[in-house]
Amino acid sequence: MQLNGNMATDDNMLTIGGIRADKLIAAYGSPLYVIDQADFEDRAQAFKQYFVSEKFKTHVIYASKAFSNVYISELAKAAGLHIDVVSGGELYTVLKAGYDPSQVYFHGNNKTPHELAYALDQGIGTIIVDNDYEYQLISDLAKERKMLARVLLRVNPGIEADTHKYIQTTKEDSKFGMSTTDPRTMAFIQAMAQDPAIDFAGVHCHIGSQVMKAGFFYEEAQAMIAFAKQVESQCQIDLQEVNLGGGFGVYYTDKDQPLNLAEFLPAYIKEIEQAMVANDFSCDIISIEPGRSMINDSGSTLYTLGAIKHPQMGLPFAFIDGGMSDNLRPALYQAEYEAAIANRINEPADQAFRVAGKCCETGDILIQEIKLANPQPGDILVVPRTGAYTFAMASNYNRIEKPAVVFVKDGQSKVAVKRETYADMTRNDCSIKD
Ligand code: LLP
Repeated sequence: MQLNGNMATDDNMLTIGGIRADKLIAAYGSPLYVIDQADFEDRAQAFKQYFVSEKFKTHVIYASKAFSNVYISELAKAAGLHIDVVSGGELYTVLKAGYDPSQVYFHGNNKTPHELAYALDQGIGTIIVDNDYEYQLISDLAKERKMLARVLLRVNPGIEADTHKYIQTTKEDSKFGMSTTDPRTMAFIQAMAQDPAIDFAGVHCHIGSQVMKAGFFYEEAQAMIAFAKQVESQCQIDLQEVNLGGGFGVYYTDKDQPLNLAEFLPAYIKEIEQAMVANDFSCDIISIEPGRSMINDSGSTLYTLGAIKHPQMGLPFAFIDGGMSDNLRPALYQAEYEAAIANRINEPADQAFRVAGKCCETGDILIQEIKLANPQPGDILVVPRTGAYTFAMASNYNRIEKPAVVFVKDGQSKVAVKRETYADMTRNDCSIKD
């Protein structure tokens, strides 16, 4: 396992943010999501530092769906990031964290009337419109409130990024947005631009997630800027913003060659600037929406091992006290992770195991095959790089309580989300006797 961020070792024990893994489990229980706060803060600053241009303003918008809670929203705010939300619940969370609503972008392909009214009443900065029906809702709600709703339109420039098919998003038959090649799209923009309740500010696109090749992003920038220019000429309007979405790939295992932000972001800016010159286009703001690439590396999950089981055939199992309830990604996307025995971190990992969760589901295998250093019941298994889309996608399947989230930095730790209790899970259950 590659150590990352502020991981180190202390006498054969893994430390994160200066705290030993066994101390974290003793203090907060198991399993446990641990977030390396300084690593997140450094990455937020890297995005702010490298995604800059002299030609336009840039917004780095944290895609909070990757990992949403009040604590991370407070850190994102302190780092000067804008933030995006995809539901009333995510919006409530960032507002609770004190986000200025004008810094919030609201996404989603089927925002409900209730969510849209809530967003407008809160003075949210920008709504990304997905379709015609939604636009009508926004327009009516804004008129009722005598407001001007700032919107972008989500479009698909038809770029098929090379990633898992469940997280590709801009194919022509995608459920998200409208195609740039659909003749109805331009007429739709024209209608929005003429609506007195709508401030039509620009266009948005997101080509998919866990995209490793910079070329796809360059292609996207060129296509989107060419399209933005076309919108300006055909609709006789000036666009304020082009939002290029997120999707920047990260390292999970040695099969992944992630983008290096310090190299990629300045090169991306250059591509955008060149596309602007080539299309004779300018606008005030270019935005990006990193989620995974902002938080994934900062998160680790600590589990405690139960039985080491040797079936009659196949690899021995190392059973963990969590599984698909705290990390659905292997079951859902065949996602792969590294792991190590945290309390034997310096010892050679030389025996192959299959790491299985405790859910009643054959597919609840966290890692199909990994070499571990002599795992024993009671050992701590660390799975690094689990910050994104794990806690965010956790469930109570089998009524397993969601683990706590703890932030660590410079030898200090702080609970960001408390561990669920059995009482929490039955809080909304009603009895036949009620
Ligand atoms: N912007 C929009 C409009 C998006 O739909 C997404 C992700 C992002 C930004 C952030 O993408 P990122 O930088 O995190 O790749 N649950 C899946 C990922 C789903 C991504 C959905 N949209 C997974 O675990 O891989």
